[in-house]
Amino acid sequence: MELIDGNAIAASLIAELKQSVATLEGRAPCLALVRIGEDPASVSYVRKKEKTAAEIGVRSRVILPPPTITQTELEGLIDDLNADPSVDGILVQSPLPPTLIEAEIFRRIAPDKDVDGFHPLNLGKVAQDDPTGFVACTPAGVMELLSRSGVDLAGKHVVVLGRSLIVGKPVALLALQKRAGANATVTVCHSGTHNLAAITRLADVLIVAIGRPEFVTDQMVKPGAVVIDVGINRVPDDTKKAGYRLTGDVHFLSVAPICSKITPVPGGVGPMTVAMLMRNTIRARKRRNLSLTP
Ligand code: GUN
Repeated sequence: MELIDGNAIAASLIAELKQSVATLEGRAPCLALVRIGEDPASVSYVRKKEKTAAEIGVRSRVILPPPTITQTELEGLIDDLNADPSVDGILVQSPLPPTLIEAEIFRRIAPDKDVDGFHPLNLGKVAQDDPTGFVACTPAGVMELLSRSGVDLAGKHVVVLGRSLIVGKPVALLALQKRAGANATVTVCHSGTHNLAAITRLADVLIVAIGRPEFVTDQMVKPGAVVIDVGINRVPDDTKKAGYRLTGDVHFLSVAPICSKITPVPGGVGPMTVAMLMRNTIRARKRRNLSLTP
C-alpha cells in the first residue's frame, strides 16, 4: 500500500505557483474571501486559504458580513466585488446560514471571478469538456492528486460516493471527460443507493465524499483499488486538546492494508483544495491582464 501524500504534492504545486506569481506582470492577484457566521470548520478553512495566499504572493481580502445579512444585501456585496477591478477572484465560503440561498449567491458571482467554479456557466463548461472555465477546487485537486501519483483513469471504473455540487457531481464529470488523465467509466452512488457495497467493490478508483465519518470499510473496497478520501469530519475525542480528532469518510485502519494507494486524512485531498484555489486565482488574474490588453 502506498500513501498518497497530499501535503508533499500540494507543496510542490505551491512552489510552482509562487514562481508563476513572481513572474506576473502588473499587480499581485487578489482573492476576496467572504465568510458568514462562525462555523468552526469554515473559520479554519478561510484562515488556511489566507495563509497559503500570503505564502504565494496572492493578496487576500477577508470580508466578514454579520450573520443577519439578507440575501439582497449579500447579492449587493457580490455585485460590488464583481465590479471592483482590484479583485480577481471571489469565494463565498459554504455552508451559508440557512436564511441565505446558496445557489443564488454562487450564480451572482461573475463567471470570470468564480474561482470556486460553482457558477452554472463554469459547471456547464466541465460538462462540455471546455477547459476555458474554472473547475471547482476539491474536484480539481482530486484529479491533480491522481495524475501526480501516476494513476491513469483511462478505461478504469471510477466509483464516486456522494453527489454534492462541491465534490461528487463535478469530480464525476471530470473523470468522465474525453481527455488524457480522464476517460474513465464513472458510477455515482449516494445515500439512496441500494446494495452500495456491491457497487463500491467494483471500483478501480473509489472517490469518497459522503460526509460520514469512517463510513467506507474494507468490506466495501476491492483489493488493490485506489481510494481517495475527500471527507474531513470532526469527531469528539476527549484525549485531544482540541476536544475532537479529524477523520475521513473512509475507515483508514481497515481499508489501507487492502488498497494499492490511499489518501490520508488529514494530509490528503485537503491541502490540494487550497492549492487549486490559488491556481484558479492566478489564472483569473492572468486572464484579466489579457482582457485588458488593447
Ligand atoms: N466549503 C467546503 N469546501 C468548499 C469550497 O471548496 N468552496 C467553498 N466556497 N466553500 C467550501
